[in-house]
Amino acid sequence: MRSQFGEVSEALFLTQGYAYDSMEAAEARFNGGDPGFVYSRFSNPTVAMFEARMALLEGCEAARATATGMAAVTAAMMGQVQAGDHVVAAKALFGSCRYVVEELLPRFGVASTLVDGEDLDQWRAAMRPETKVVFLESPTNPTLSLVDIAAVAEIAHAGGALLTVDNVFATPMLQSPFELGADCVVYSTTKHIDGQGRCLGGVILGSQDFIDTKMQTFLRQTGPALSPFNAWVMLKGLETLPLRVAAQDASASRIADFLADHKQISRVIYPGRDDHPQAELARRQMKGGGTLVAFDVVGGKPAAFRFANALKVILISNNLGDAKSLITHPATTTHQRLSAEVRAGLGINDAMLRLSVGLEDVHDLLEDIGRALDHAD
Ligand SMILES: Cc1ncc(COP(=O)(O)O)c(C=O)c1O
Repeated sequence: MRSQFGEVSEALFLTQGYAYDSMEAAEARFNGGDPGFVYSRFSNPTVAMFEARMALLEGCEAARATATGMAAVTAAMMGQVQAGDHVVAAKALFGSCRYVVEELLPRFGVASTLVDGEDLDQWRAAMRPETKVVFLESPTNPTLSLVDIAAVAEIAHAGGALLTVDNVFATPMLQSPFELGADCVVYSTTKHIDGQGRCLGGVILGSQDFIDTKMQTFLRQTGPALSPFNAWVMLKGLETLPLRVAAQDASASRIADFLADHKQISRVIYPGRDDHPQAELARRQMKGGGTLVAFDVVGGKPAAFRFANALKVILISNNLGDAKSLITHPATTTHQRLSAEVRAGLGINDAMLRLSVGLEDVHDLLEDIGRALDHAD
């Protein structure tokens, strides 16, 4: 969409409201007779451009952008349920998503069951007549285990429920949940879609009917809207998304291979490697191994800390999908609120680090990792 000036870079409509030529024109906007914009909590031209492009990229009919990824997940859940309904979700969820399913929804009379996402029998057994939503992320954070999206979609649909997939780790470039049967896809666009660590954002995607009937009123009345400025940044991010993800995926694959051969590393988890426990599923539902690598350092937490503290190019940070490579120790950061037992159940141990591979020269990254591993000894 271009304004009358024919700008090449998308226009930033940093406005809250819209002026009408007459009272009659305002009336027509509000009663739907004229489809123009009325207020930026409902819609905004820059945000609408971002939404339209996300829908095209994902291959679905409609999208609504939100202020953060968590706003997208919360709205996607709340918009689909009411008291008395039931949600089934994988245990291995990003912590805040797990809070929404496990603690927030039950406060409003929506029961939830968490299952081992890899075990299809558990998904089947958890379904109830009142199950309305099935929710998963794949690959999961931080253990990069996978859920068979097509199989879970079948189970959800057989039980009369809709499947929502958090596709943050795979990105739109490496996995297409709608092609695998999902009804709703959510992203934290904070991650690869911005891709340069600047703005928070989120998006909910689905059919026009799904967005109109389940999301529109909830979003309009509760207001988790994306700022037009952040939408503009995200639009810039989309222009380079395929190139960035391809480069980061290639570097992650090389780094995973390097780590797997290193004596200081006892385990590497990367969905693109043949030794990933679900390598066959990864090949079936993903177009690459992704931009994240998880690994255990020999010597446990002290060695993992010595290694990460010795890195010079890779930054210690819990974010991901950035052009800068970022490393985190899930047990003491993103997953520290979980009990040691729950962490163990998810496969998160004290030796594990999660690396989000950026756009630096891969040789610099390999050198940084190799040198820092000498300090881990
Ligand atoms: C898988 C996953 N879902 C959702 C989110 C939430 O996104 P945001 O931080 O933009 O709210 C994150 C990251 O924070 C994430 O990793």
